[in-house]
Amino acid sequence: MDSEVQSTVEAACREFGNDRSRMMDIVRAVQEKLGCVPPESIGLIAEAVDTHRVEVASVVSFYAFLSGESAGKVVIRLCDDIIDRMAGADRVAEAFVEELGVGVGETTPDGAITLTRTPCIGMCDQAPAAMINEVIVTNLSSDSARQIVRELRDHMDPHKLVHKLGDGNNASDLVHAMVTNNIRKRGPVVLYYMEPGTALAKALVMSPNEVIRDLKTARLRGRGGAGFPTGMKWQFARAADGDKRYVICNADEGEPGTFKDRVILTEQADLMFEGMTVGGYAISSDTGIVYLRGEYAYLRALLEHVLQQRRDKGLLGNNVCGHEGFNFDIRIQMGAGAYICGEETALISSCEGRRGDPKTRPPFPAQKGYLDGPTVVNNVETFCCVARILAESPGWFAQLGSSGSAGTKLLSVSGDCQIPGVYEVPFGIKLSELLDRVGAEDPIAVQVGGPSGQMVGEAGFERTICYDDLATGGSIMVFGASRNLLEVVDAFMGFFVEESCGYCTPCRVGNVLLKRRLERIMAGDGEPADLEYLQTLGATIKTASRCGLGQTSPNPILSTLKNFRPLYEALVKERPDGLQASFDIHSALTDAEAAQGRDSVVFPH
Ligand SMILES: Cc1cc2nc3c(=O)[nH]c(=O)nc-3n(C[C@H](O)[C@H](O)[C@H](O)COP(=O)(O)O)c2cc1C
Ligand code: SF4
Repeated sequence: MDSEVQSTVEAACREFGNDRSRMMDIVRAVQEKLGCVPPESIGLIAEAVDTHRVEVASVVSFYAFLSGESAGKVVIRLCDDIIDRMAGADRVAEAFVEELGVGVGETTPDGAITLTRTPCIGMCDQAPAAMINEVIVTNLSSDSARQIVRELRDHMDPHKLVHKLGDGNNASDLVHAMVTNNIRKRGPVVLYYMEPGTALAKALVMSPNEVIRDLKTARLRGRGGAGFPTGMKWQFARAADGDKRYVICNADEGEPGTFKDRVILTEQADLMFEGMTVGGYAISSDTGIVYLRGEYAYLRALLEHVLQQRRDKGLLGNNVCGHEGFNFDIRIQMGAGAYICGEETALISSCEGRRGDPKTRPPFPAQKGYLDGPTVVNNVETFCCVARILAESPGWFAQLGSSGSAGTKLLSVSGDCQIPGVYEVPFGIKLSELLDRVGAEDPIAVQVGGPSGQMVGEAGFERTICYDDLATGGSIMVFGASRNLLEVVDAFMGFFVEESCGYCTPCRVGNVLLKRRLERIMAGDGEPADLEYLQTLGATIKTASRCGLGQTSPNPILSTLKNFRPLYEALVKERPDGLQASFDIHSALTDAEAAQGRDSVVFPH
């Protein structure tokens, strides 16, 4: 046994109290030291935390940023989302390939640099972008890609690639990133300076039930996408049986095209932590967790610093703000590159040190969540709203926005527009007004709510952004007249195929079948019956899938079939022989192979 592996595993397990539920931290620590989580470490970790080898191995294999095999010392992860591709990510990839002399997914022969692609890293407003180890590089071009490789060959230190710092806290020593905030419009709620402690001072003179009542009066609904009433969720958690309750902040921000939480984490972390602490008081919890996506690891030191400042000021720790008996502290849990971990039950599994598998509901997390305790999971922006509601008043908040949707919403706008970035707008804003404001360039379509949302055409530009019309967790992608919308849809379907956790067949297999049929249509081989096939299969996947990923994954196809049907109709034609390709034996066989996950036996003629 390699003594370095042994000592690394021992140190990592010891650091996290040999606690099985801290598996994510343990394997991340091992990988940081050894470059991977080597096979010989799996048994050692299992033994140290008293679990089975398969538990450890399944965690390592689940997350994109964890690996059992050594990659290069430096890993370049080029963002692969549609906005980055529109901004030239493929040309950048070619430049990396030429300069490195290896293909995508390969490592240079000297083992120094690995090149790979990754789903949205939350930088669509400064695309094309990449993660180089944990360092973010933005606004890439072919030239800058070549320059990056040359510099890396020289020093192999990704941090030295940051020559120009971004604005705000991006420029601080704790972040030291070239990322820019691109805050285009500040509003009165989230992107607003509040003296730390203001909301807590108000909350702690009220009873926990009164705090929850204020959130209900404010009509606050979750900002993460589903829009569940926050006060009601907190009330459920408070009322649920359990010795220990938990407050979890969902900072996974994996929906392609969303980057507003990145900006909150960079500039308004204090406000978010304050909302979480109010949550701790309201539901009687002493433990908060921020689940931070692996792509935002570059923000971790800043967040830890803000947490420490809050402890020093008595805003976290024992007897918060001098309130006898109210103890609350927050830890950061790093993710490791899995979109599904944004789904709250998968996120909880991940926090517990497991694969990010969604759980069957009920029980809901508010009843039985993290380590089986009642748990509230809320979005980063939701916690900011909580703090501001307490600091101002529920009435003040409720009169902002529209009748069904109180308050403001942070939108992450990207794509074919002159002013991409983050906008805090009142709910109820018309899409057309937003498009004017962001300098949309000849827009023919807007994807509202990311791939799991809907694609809206010009006929829908007078619709409004709110829970009752166009709901969005924050992603707004603009597509101009030069774009092939079916290519966009295909890219979104590719994303869902990649990110499905594979647990249930409708999602695992159905999305592959949808994508294949779409590609057949795009290749000019489709027929009218294919549109019916897409519709029917899409509806089945939505109803038969276990979690929100599968339940929304056919949306790119279904919403374009509804709003852009002529695009499909122009590509399909009846077969001259009158037969329906849907019954073609080869295609049926291919479908069956996908469903079974294995190749058919081919008999010789
Ligand atoms: C596949 C999938 C990914 C999700 N990703 C996120 C995410 O990145 N951030 C988030 O806040 N909510 C995400 N959600 C929604 C969460 O499950 C949950 O509803 C949310 O965190 C609750 O917070 P809220 O009530 O404040 O909106 C996702 C849901 C699904 C199905
Ligand atoms: S719907 Fe998809 S992501 Fe969700 S549990 Fe099923 S396979 Fe996994």
